[in-house]
Amino acid sequence: MAEIFLTGATGFVGRHLVPALIREGHHVWCLVRSVEKAAQLRARGCQVVVGDLTSDSFSVEGAEIVIHLAALHHGLPTLISRVTAEGTARLVQAAQAQGVKKILSLSTVTAAQNPSWPYAYAAWLAEQAIQASSVRYTILRSTVIVGPGDPFLGGIMYMAQAWPVVPIIGSGRTRFQPVSVFDIVRCVLQAITDERYTNRVLTVGGPEVLSYEQIVDTVFEALRISKRKISLPRRTTRFCVRWLERMGVRTPFVPGHFLSQDLIASSPSVIEDEFGFRPQALRAVLHAILSRCVTLEKSVA
Ligand SMILES: NC(=O)c1ccc[n+]([C@@H]2O[C@H](COP(=O)([O-])OP(=O)(O)OC[C@H]3O[C@@H](n4cnc5c(N)ncnc54)[C@H](OP(=O)(O)O)[C@@H]3O)[C@@H](O)[C@H]2O)c1
Repeated sequence: MAEIFLTGATGFVGRHLVPALIREGHHVWCLVRSVEKAAQLRARGCQVVVGDLTSDSFSVEGAEIVIHLAALHHGLPTLISRVTAEGTARLVQAAQAQGVKKILSLSTVTAAQNPSWPYAYAAWLAEQAIQASSVRYTILRSTVIVGPGDPFLGGIMYMAQAWPVVPIIGSGRTRFQPVSVFDIVRCVLQAITDERYTNRVLTVGGPEVLSYEQIVDTVFEALRISKRKISLPRRTTRFCVRWLERMGVRTPFVPGHFLSQDLIASSPSVIEDEFGFRPQALRAVLHAILSRCVTLEKSVA
C-alpha cells in the first residue's frame, strides 16, 4: 500500500484508475479543480486537494508516488502548454521538493519536439521535465486508449448508431493501435510497484494495428449494423467542427478522428513483452463497452 497523489482523476483514464488503486489498498489523494467533482471522488474513498496545475495551489506533501494523468489535448496552444508542459514542470518541482519517491506519467506516442503540434510538443516538454528531475520515474507513452467512456471510440459508436451515414475523415487510412483502458490501468499498477520499470520510457499499445476505416467497420460489426460511409475532407471538416463547437454545438468528434499521422507504438507486442500479459483486442473492448451499456439499461429499467 502506498500514499499516492493523482492528477487527472476526473478524466477518462482517471475514472478507471481510481477504483483500481483503492481496490489495491492504496491511499489516494486527488488533485481536482471543482468542488462537485471533489465530492464524487470523496464518495469513492479518495482524499481530495482542490487546486489547479496552472497555479501553485497544491502540495504533494506526504505522497510516496505521484501518478500524473492530467493534460490538455486540445484548445488554445498557450493553454495546452500552460497545463501540459508548465503544469507538469510545477508538479515535478513540488515532487522533488517534498521527497516523492517516484512519478508515473501517462504520456502519448505523439510526444515530439515539434512546436507546430502544440499537444505533442507540450507532452514532449512534460516528459523532459520529468526525466531531468532527481525523482525516479516511469513514463508510459500510449497509443489511443479505448474503453467505457472514451471519446474516440465513443464518438464513432455514437455516429454509427445515431447518424444515417458515418463520416470517414480524410483517406480513412490513418493507422491506430487502440489499447484498452483496463490494460493501461494494469500497466500503471504494475509500474508503480515494480522497480523493473524505474527510469524508463515505455511505449504501450494494443495488439492490433487498424486503419480508421477498419475501426469503423469493427464498430459496425460489434453493433451488428451496416451503414453507408462517406468520405469527408479533413481540413474542411475540422474547420466546420471547430466553428460549430465555438457556437456551443457539441459534436462527437475529437482530435484523434482528424489525425493524418499514424498513432502506433513501435511493436504490437510491447505490453506482452514488458508487462507479461496479452492486451485486449478491439472486439473485446467493444464487447465490454456494450455489455456495460446493457447492464446499465437493465439497472435503470
Ligand atoms: N485518452 C487517450 O486516448 C490517451 C492516449 C494517449 C495518452 N493519453 C494521456 O493520458 C492522460 C490521461 O488522458 P485522459 O484521456 O484521461 O484525459 P482527459 O479525459 O482529457 O482528462 C484530463 C484530466 O486532466 C485534468 N486537468 C485538465 N486541466 C487541468 C488543470 N489545469 N489542473 C489540473 N487538472 C487538469 C482534467 O480535470 P477536469 O475534470 O477538471 O477537466 C481531467 O481530469 C493524458 O496525459 C493524456 O495525454 C491519453
